[in-house]
Amino acid sequence: MIDKAQFVPKIEGNEISSFKTTWSAPSNIALVKYWGKKELQIPCNPSISFTLDQCRTTTSVQFKSRTAHDHSSLAVQYDGKPAPSFEPKVKTFIDRIRPYAPYLNEYHLQIDTVNSFPHSSGIASSASAMAALAAAIMDLEKQIYPSLTAEDQIKKCSFLARLGSGSAARSVEGPLVLWGEHTATPDSSDLFGVRWTKAADVFKTYRDTILLVDKGQKEVSSTVGHNLMHNHPFAENRFAQAKAHYQDLLAILENGEINGFTDLVEREALSLHAMMLTSSPSYILMHSNTIQIIQKVRNFRKTTGLQLTFTLDAGANVHLLYPEHEAEQICQFIESDLRQYCQDNELISDRVGTGLKKT
Ligand code: DP6
Repeated sequence: MIDKAQFVPKIEGNEISSFKTTWSAPSNIALVKYWGKKELQIPCNPSISFTLDQCRTTTSVQFKSRTAHDHSSLAVQYDGKPAPSFEPKVKTFIDRIRPYAPYLNEYHLQIDTVNSFPHSSGIASSASAMAALAAAIMDLEKQIYPSLTAEDQIKKCSFLARLGSGSAARSVEGPLVLWGEHTATPDSSDLFGVRWTKAADVFKTYRDTILLVDKGQKEVSSTVGHNLMHNHPFAENRFAQAKAHYQDLLAILENGEINGFTDLVEREALSLHAMMLTSSPSYILMHSNTIQIIQKVRNFRKTTGLQLTFTLDAGANVHLLYPEHEAEQICQFIESDLRQYCQDNELISDRVGTGLKKT
């Protein structure tokens, strides 16, 4: 068990009166899903994700020493316009991380943020948003405590991001990230994500085409969704299944077994949805178009032998995963047979990426 106390600064820091920094963080797509948590973002099972490349949040933070005249501690802009509706969520995040970043008490934060993907695309932005903000705060921490190592900076960034949104712990590095303790990976932790580099090369360049079946707001917020796992009749079995999948997937990734990957990743996505179908209240988050896409993908794989697979987040959109060397034929199929199921024919072409970038 790793102690949270390691993340509390213990030495006297430099005085920095003003500092501006900009970070871009990617979204990620879980292969083994995090669904169910204990207090303060401790996952009920370990998860594994691909870090994405193109779906990103870029956030600038201007930190300025607070004066007696400052009425508030922060102001948020989205895409260059004031966004007061984002402020409560950011305030909650800052309050949660304050014990680990007490220096924030001294600053007013002017936060400017923008997503590379359309705001209303049904793509969750909390992972990339929290990771980008955590990265900016950790850059300030590095100015205050210059002895902080790059490794500890990254680790604490994931630790802080997790306190904003669990899956954000997995948006700091790439191409694959583990989050949640498992005996098979002694360096894994419930408190932060760790980069996993042992995957066969084929998985380091995987593609993800996101079919935007529903661009609206998610029907079930992740907070509500995770809570559905409390007293869920299948919860314990689901956590055991995810733990077994975690270990199986690591072997599959390491050995480059694309068939095994396809089978496991699809069952994971459908297990997540099965939990929502059988919770109380129950939710059907797939649309008829989601099902049509799934059936077409399975048919295509059967008839062509090409390794196209899907995963889902907690909504109707479909992430199509496939190896780079088959991209040409698969992209043709997506255009001719699948794009029509997307709202306004919109999709996002993405691929596996490497994590945070300072801009
Ligand atoms: C289905 O990370 O959004 O995407 O911790 O409440 O912010 P909070 O939840 P969040 O949950 C993600 C759920 C998921 C699966 C996953 O990404 O592992």
